[in-house]
Amino acid sequence: MTETPPLTVLADDTAYAEAVQLAVDSAAAYYADGTSTLDDDAYDRLVRGIQAYEEEHPEAVLPSSPTGKVAGGAVVGDVPHTVPMLSLDNVFGAEQLSDWAAGLERRLGRAVTVWSVEPKLDGLAISARYHNGRLTQLVTRGDGSAGEDVSHAIGTIVGLPDRLADAVTVELRGEVMMTASQFEEACAKRQAHDGTTFANPRSAAAGTLRTRERPYVCELTFFGYGVLPPPDDHSDLAVRLRELPHSEIMDWVAAQGVQTTAATPVAGIVAETLERVQERVGEIAAVRPELPFGIDGIVIKCDLAADQAAAGFSSRAPRWAIAYKLPATEKITKLIGVEWNTGRTGVIAPRAVLEPVELDGSIVTYATLHNVADITRRGLMIGDSVTVYKAGDVIPRVEAPVVHLRTGDEQPIPIPTACPSCGDSIDSSQERWRCVRGRACRAIASIIYAVGRDQLDIEGLAENRIKQFLDAGFITDFADLFFLTREQLLGLERMGETSTDNLLAAIEQAKSRPLSRVFAALGVRGTGRSMSRRIARHFATMDNIRAADAEAIQQVEGIGPEKAPVVVAELAELAPLIDKLVQAGVNMTEPGATPPAEGEQTQSGLPLASMSVVVTGAMTGPLASLSRNEVNELIERAGGKASSSVSAKTSLLVAGEKTGSKRAKAETLGVRIMSPEEFADQVSAFL
Ligand code: IVH
Repeated sequence: MTETPPLTVLADDTAYAEAVQLAVDSAAAYYADGTSTLDDDAYDRLVRGIQAYEEEHPEAVLPSSPTGKVAGGAVVGDVPHTVPMLSLDNVFGAEQLSDWAAGLERRLGRAVTVWSVEPKLDGLAISARYHNGRLTQLVTRGDGSAGEDVSHAIGTIVGLPDRLADAVTVELRGEVMMTASQFEEACAKRQAHDGTTFANPRSAAAGTLRTRERPYVCELTFFGYGVLPPPDDHSDLAVRLRELPHSEIMDWVAAQGVQTTAATPVAGIVAETLERVQERVGEIAAVRPELPFGIDGIVIKCDLAADQAAAGFSSRAPRWAIAYKLPATEKITKLIGVEWNTGRTGVIAPRAVLEPVELDGSIVTYATLHNVADITRRGLMIGDSVTVYKAGDVIPRVEAPVVHLRTGDEQPIPIPTACPSCGDSIDSSQERWRCVRGRACRAIASIIYAVGRDQLDIEGLAENRIKQFLDAGFITDFADLFFLTREQLLGLERMGETSTDNLLAAIEQAKSRPLSRVFAALGVRGTGRSMSRRIARHFATMDNIRAADAEAIQQVEGIGPEKAPVVVAELAELAPLIDKLVQAGVNMTEPGATPPAEGEQTQSGLPLASMSVVVTGAMTGPLASLSRNEVNELIERAGGKASSSVSAKTSLLVAGEKTGSKRAKAETLGVRIMSPEEFADQVSAFL
């Protein structure tokens, strides 16, 4: 897993003083409204550098130093905490974790046999005070001993009810954050209000929590991770809450109607060995990219109250818990430039060119910028420091500019006034700009795609040939290929009798491809290979697909209310092309599929019904000769859903030779794994 990130090396007292000031300023901004000038990694590096310098030069330690202080000593509040709200110490890898555990067990003089392992939620710590079951006060962590009253946020936090199930007096502790969808909504609201957005979910949550009067309300989410009875309370419940294991206390919290991570794929678990703890760390890390909320690590705690009591606290953190930090998924880097490209469907897409930055295990140099509206909405400029997000397999994206890091030298992003591919005008009536020529602008790209191996699979039709046909005016789209004549082809350079006949035969063969491939060849925006297969299986015929309105299209798994109208509009635009294909005699049905009404019953009898299957590595045995797309087609013929990445939802991984991370991920998640041979056996009727 991760190693300790490097620290900032400080040369002398001046460098040290500057570093302390920078850390103090950053921490202040971070805890105030999330607008820190440093990303988490850079801050950690800096504080480690400060710590190292202080160990070497104890006489030089400044009182304002952030080391050993909760929240870097940044924040003060006026509501005292009943019990200090501490921080957690960090480890950055498996080895450090076992060192920490060994140290703890030495201190306890015994082995820890029950560990609790839960996600480290990336938000803000909050204390929620309930009196006789009613939520009466919300307080931020502040400097750990006193925080700020943010009770105005009561009623806007999902998972933190106004009333508990029982009329009890307790203090809940947990994390307030924004889920991905709450963040989107908050950005849209702020956008509509003042034309700006939030830098990331964490700063959005911080800003939202601490702003008293805002003309719009943004929803937040709470996940509890602890509970405290009043210090002087000796009731049965209070005694139980002090003596029960942490895991059982969390069950009690959930039973009170408060949200814990129990309902998520990263629910807290108890582990009896450090090996199992490590395994769980792997499992949580593996599903991180798919979670609807941010986590920045895993918290490992002694589950038993007796262990916690014996371990005690340092001034900053409990000794019975540790944060296993995961690599940052967001960093700040510079936006150097923006490139514009016209895609296959004529869409003109901007791409950010970044100062290379290491994120979640890879170097990111390019990131998606979506569209022009998005650029203006975020107010991005060339030279801006920007937050860039990447986790797992996701395409890196630029989240927002860090406005307070501007130097004044930033330049506006040049927006193209003509199509970067053909120079014709741009249709800017939609959010996604397109060349007025639409698909025709990059006809060659759409034709290459249509005849590709996973679509019509026309052998011998390389790019130079397609270009030749386009230049000769024989074709304008891929449907025209089916009308090419022997005479036309023979009249071209480098086209002999044999190659002409072979090509014509290959084109003829392509007419009988299943509908799923013909549909994929159309290159409908928002539908790739697997979506095309789902659409074809769902509707069974092209006529059914064309007759479907947005609502009917939404019945296909994976097509939501946003995509459905796009598909309908695209099909209308493609009508002349589809008509031409029909006229050419191209197959327009999906073998074995039945139209929607009866569809449901037939699916359920299939061997892979309702299973999500992922294929990885080189196939062997009966599957050896199949392309990946063909294996996926096989999965879907057998009633399953082919997916490309392993997640908690995966039912089966077919693992061939030379597998890498997918197998490891499936193993950590406990997903069933089969060899290609075993799998071929299961679906032999569909081969
Ligand atoms: S337990 C005495 N559990 O991480 C502190 N904290 O970096 C015990 N956090 O201040 C905290 N998820 O705000 C705990 N599952 C979790 C957590 C968690 C996030 C936060 C918490 C804490 C910070 C330390």
